[in-house]
Amino acid sequence: MPKAYGFTQYGGPELQEFLDLPKPTPGAGEVLVAVRAAGVNPVDWKIRQGYLAEVMPLELPAVLGREVAGAVEEVGQDVDDFSVHDEILGSVAPGSGGYAEYALVTASTATKKPPQVSFTDAAALPVAAGTAYDAVQQLGLAEGESLLINGIGGGVGVAAAQLARDLGVFVIGTGSEEKRELTESLGGTLVTYGDGVANRVREIMPGGVDAVLDVVGGDALRAVAELVSNRSRLLTTADPDTVAELGGGGVERDGSGAVLAKIVQLVADGKLDPHVSDVVPLERAGEALASVESGHTRGKVVIAVG
Ligand SMILES: NC(=O)c1ccc[n+]([C@@H]2O[C@H](COP(=O)([O-])OP(=O)(O)OC[C@H]3O[C@@H](n4cnc5c(N)ncnc54)[C@H](OP(=O)(O)O)[C@@H]3O)[C@@H](O)[C@H]2O)c1
Repeated sequence: MPKAYGFTQYGGPELQEFLDLPKPTPGAGEVLVAVRAAGVNPVDWKIRQGYLAEVMPLELPAVLGREVAGAVEEVGQDVDDFSVHDEILGSVAPGSGGYAEYALVTASTATKKPPQVSFTDAAALPVAAGTAYDAVQQLGLAEGESLLINGIGGGVGVAAAQLARDLGVFVIGTGSEEKRELTESLGGTLVTYGDGVANRVREIMPGGVDAVLDVVGGDALRAVAELVSNRSRLLTTADPDTVAELGGGGVERDGSGAVLAKIVQLVADGKLDPHVSDVVPLERAGEALASVESGHTRGKVVIAVG
């Protein structure tokens, strides 16, 4: 049996284990990928907890992980863009998972991996950098404007900071003190979160900021909302209910292979670095997810397969 790591019932990390599952067969619009690397995201533990069970019902046991990079091993019906042996990155198909030797990928979300981009960097892109890209587009940022990224140090934040910086946007990010050096290396200015965060931002930007991208939600989102007067430019990836109360909105995901192709090209051109801070072998997938679940990831954590 190929190795796959997932969970047997909805709940805590104690329900995670290696699963005995056959190699999956691609359906229409899907490809079977021999996984070389799988990105780890907060959504993985949220799915395991059952928080998305209504919107994304799963047959259990289920394999963890939403994004992979690897080589196409089999092509399903109605897939014209990919052939066996193509090296690709993309989002896993509904019901499939990435923390595994084999995963099904939805062809419409995938793109070919440029040879100069590593599998580990490629696997880190579809969810976090994809979301950052969509958010920056949706905010309609222009040169000379300012953006506050609430939670700059993780997967979405580091990508959003680079994309905004390259548009000529002044980037401020909230994070723990541990994220200061990283933030400055991205061209941003770090403001520590906690009591008085809005005042600390105002010390730098007395009139507030032009836009806010929040990836934390809850009280941390409430604390910075006052900094943006045009609430159509207050977006969150993490807390749709609170942002709606505050007059803002969620990030609308594109998720297409066409957009992912643009993102991976930025990486190939040296303009975007997903900042993979930890590469963990599949045998230690549980540790990889635990480190993301701790909520203080630096850049991205990726699982290496094979
Ligand atoms: N809707 C979508 O399609 C979508 C896609 C991607 C992500 N998301 C969601 O977006 C959120 C962020 O994702 P991610 O991948 O960037 O997560 P991540 O990699 O875990 O990063 C989160 C970052 O927030 C920082 N942080 C924690 N508490 C904070 C606070 N109170 N104020 C400011 N920063 C704080 C953390 O480090 P420090 O505390 O050390 O600074 C960490 O660097 C998650 O909830 C995820 O599920 C949604």
